Amino acid sequence: MNTPLLEVKNLKKYFKTPNGMLHAVDDVSFTLERGSTLGLVGESGCGKSTTGRAILCLTEPTSGQIIFDGQHLMKLSPSELRRQRQDMQIIFQDPYSSLDPRFTVAQAIEEPFRIHKLIMDKRERHKKVLALMDTVGLARRLINSYPHELDGGRRQRIGIARALALGPRFIVCDEPVSALDVSIQAQILNLMKQLQRELGLTYLFITHDLSVVRHFSDDIAVMYLGRMVEKAPTEALFAHPLHPYTKALLSAIPIPDIDRRTERILLKGELSSPIEPAKICRFSNRCGECIDLCKEEEPLMHEVSPGHFVSCFRASGY
Ligand SMILES: Nc1ncnc2c1ncn2[C@@H]1O[C@H](COP(=O)(O)OP(=O)(O)OP(=O)(O)O)[C@@H](O)[C@H]1O
Ligand SMILES: [Mg+2]
Repeated sequence: MNTPLLEVKNLKKYFKTPNGMLHAVDDVSFTLERGSTLGLVGESGCGKSTTGRAILCLTEPTSGQIIFDGQHLMKLSPSELRRQRQDMQIIFQDPYSSLDPRFTVAQAIEEPFRIHKLIMDKRERHKKVLALMDTVGLARRLINSYPHELDGGRRQRIGIARALALGPRFIVCDEPVSALDVSIQAQILNLMKQLQRELGLTYLFITHDLSVVRHFSDDIAVMYLGRMVEKAPTEALFAHPLHPYTKALLSAIPIPDIDRRTERILLKGELSSPIEPAKICRFSNRCGECIDLCKEEEPLMHEVSPGHFVSCFRASGY
């Protein structure tokens, strides 16, 4: 079957605030192929986590369509959605705050079975917990440890084991390594890559750090103030960034190469407010390439080279 595992169409998530509607996610569309990874990047508050949570229907989308393996999630009944969720999981940034401090490793990993009333036999569950610990590289001797007795890497392995418990095909990874030391980051990323190969997983990998997703993602999508502004295969995005915001993000990645060709682009101006944003380019007040049109109309995503989409009036193909 060649249909994508996930299709997101015109997804919007607005929050009511005392000052008006906050457009956290504003008309985002993309598809995700089976077994692939889409990196979702952008600065704090641009709507990455809200996009991930809305796709899993953990927060109710304002409008749009989420089609997972041919199923329209927003048309499912609550019980159908609960069943569907076994196939769609999430890994959080800070496993310490997402784990219950009173639960041992075993209790934390078997919680998804209890919630979904699966594997009721205690011995069977114990066997499954041990198998999951092996899968994520957690030593079996840690089975009765508590989260505070473990380091960040091991805690994140528990988070991954919990996400894998119900055998999902799709996982939203929300900054899964951002709280970890660099050496541990690499171990966890390698584990996730290995699991993807072995289990055929599809990832939406959320991060503010482009260097983390460079070697991890097949495609990268860049968000700015609730909008997706560019999406491309990873190498194309690094070789030919087209949106001025993407260029600024890439120029900020520290690289040890003294021959670096591009100067760091410092963003000037304030991030505009996500509340009732004007129908113009949301990046125009900070953009060095802005023309009059950018302050009159809102650019739409269009494909400028195969698989390379951008929403900028100035961008052309290459
Ligand atoms: N429950 C909520 N109620 C009101 N506003 C919210 C809510 N959740 C998120 N927001 C707002 O929506 C916008 C997007 O937030 P979101 O957490 O998705 O950003 P993010 O890209 O994940 O940021 P970060 O990198 O800091 O995690 C922000 O302006 C945030 O303040
Ligand atoms: Mg977030």
